[in-house]
Amino acid sequence: MDSFVIVTKSGKRDVYEEILPQIESLIRDETDLVANLANTASVLRMAFPDRISWVGFYLARANELVLGPFQGKPACVRVQLGRGVCGTAALSRKTVIVPNVDEFPGHIVCDPDSRSEIVIPMLRGENLLAVLDVDSSSLGSFDETDKEYLEKIGKLLEKKF
Ligand code: SME
Repeated sequence: MDSFVIVTKSGKRDVYEEILPQIESLIRDETDLVANLANTASVLRMAFPDRISWVGFYLARANELVLGPFQGKPACVRVQLGRGVCGTAALSRKTVIVPNVDEFPGHIVCDPDSRSEIVIPMLRGENLLAVLDVDSSSLGSFDETDKEYLEKIGKLLEKKF
């Protein structure tokens, strides 16, 4: 393997700019989906150790989401479409940013330390493939910059399903 996480910058945008090519390089020649999702979750967690408390994928299976590769505490395994932040992003096919999970109706508590969350749907056409779920133990951790880069990372992975 010729690539591993090296983060030399501290600004959020700079860190994303550093890890994007690293993720591209990690998944470029690998066809195994689980390996690619697992390495991507690891890069994100290692790049933002203080800002990300949990990061992982929920995969579209029949009419629900099922836990896939992740980094962090053990989590809820099944999420129904339309339920919680993940199910809302999955059903709407739109990224959802939640600055305070206590104010999101129906938020599913997997980790009581989670305070804010962003969920990115991954699609092929209109078909849902998975969602990328990122949690933080601080309020208001995620903004348009996270949306922009996590959606780019989602797009890279969509091609690997
Ligand atoms: N909080 C999520 C559930 C998944 S965990 O955060 C890992 C939700 O409301 O969909």
